[in-house]
Amino acid sequence: EYLPIVGVAEFCKAFVELALGEKNEVFKSSQYVTKQAISGTRTLRIRDSLLQRFFKFSPNHPREIIHLSSGTLACTFMVIDPVGSYSQPIFLVFGCDFISTLEDISKMLQQNVLLHVCAHNPTGVDFHPEQWKEIATVVKKIIIFVFFGMAYQGFASGDGNKDAWDTCHFIFIEQGINVCLCPSYARNTGLYSEPVGTFTVVCKDTDEAKRVESQLKILTSPMYPNPPVSGIWIALIIMTSPDMLQEVTGMGHHITSMWTQLVSSLKKEGFPNYCQHITDRIGMFCFRGLKPEQVERLTKEFSTYMTKEGHISVAGVTLDNLGYLAHAIHQVTKVI
Ligand SMILES: Cc1ncc(COP(=O)(O)O)c(C=O)c1O
Repeated sequence: EYLPIVGVAEFCKAFVELALGEKNEVFKSSQYVTKQAISGTRTLRIRDSLLQRFFKFSPNHPREIIHLSSGTLACTFMVIDPVGSYSQPIFLVFGCDFISTLEDISKMLQQNVLLHVCAHNPTGVDFHPEQWKEIATVVKKIIIFVFFGMAYQGFASGDGNKDAWDTCHFIFIEQGINVCLCPSYARNTGLYSEPVGTFTVVCKDTDEAKRVESQLKILTSPMYPNPPVSGIWIALIIMTSPDMLQEVTGMGHHITSMWTQLVSSLKKEGFPNYCQHITDRIGMFCFRGLKPEQVERLTKEFSTYMTKEGHISVAGVTLDNLGYLAHAIHQVTKVI
């Protein structure tokens, strides 16, 4: 069975309802277009084609300058620039340091930016609502096109609605900023190996939405004429069933509890260092503050693996290995 070019309408609608809320005017008046896509990473490919064809870049930078947060996943960069055809990438620190982020965004005049709506990967540091408001004000003033990466909806506060809403709806959309939403369903639905995705453009009215939908069909047809059906029905059940959403909430709370327990285990080991950043971070990821040589020792002496920057994911931390991990970290960091 081939799906229509835009994909399963019910699924696309369920995503927007979850992201923006059923009472949202954009949702109620169909002032958006959502097209089924193929995973979070490949949704960025659509973003890219759309920009190259339609976005009026600043006269000083007729091509896109890629602004990525430091530590951005290599795959994101490769998808955005597979043949190295863009201007020099500029790596910024979105999600870590508010002041630098605001300064960097203020210089972006007529560019576009990909921001993480919640549970920033890899830092685990999110902006506060007041900080998002400042960013939105700058974005509006100098016409920056905002894409929201949404890979951890439900894993920040435990409430999928709230995680997206607070930022997208109350802060950006309410100020009249028509954002694009690029979610990944891998983590919050557990569909890691299924090509589930959606690409949403919030539009100024339904007429614009129709035109954007037509252009999206033209853009994506050569990439994938009919979206895959695999995984969609499972994701739809999860997004529309209160019991299933409760499980996503449970996972959000489990993540928080794992980090808290890791800190307790470290303290039990006698780990003297600052740990607040572990319990303060939001979502699955955290920078442990380990040095590359300490990470190397963890690998060689304790068969414990993480990126050389000390970036770990809670998916690898369980009640069974917490104690071992804390012991290993303490051994490689303690001053003898
Ligand atoms: C913000 C963000 N977007 C997208 C992805 C990848 O999504 P997918 O696995 O659906 O391609 C990740 C993965 O870590 C991510 O952190």
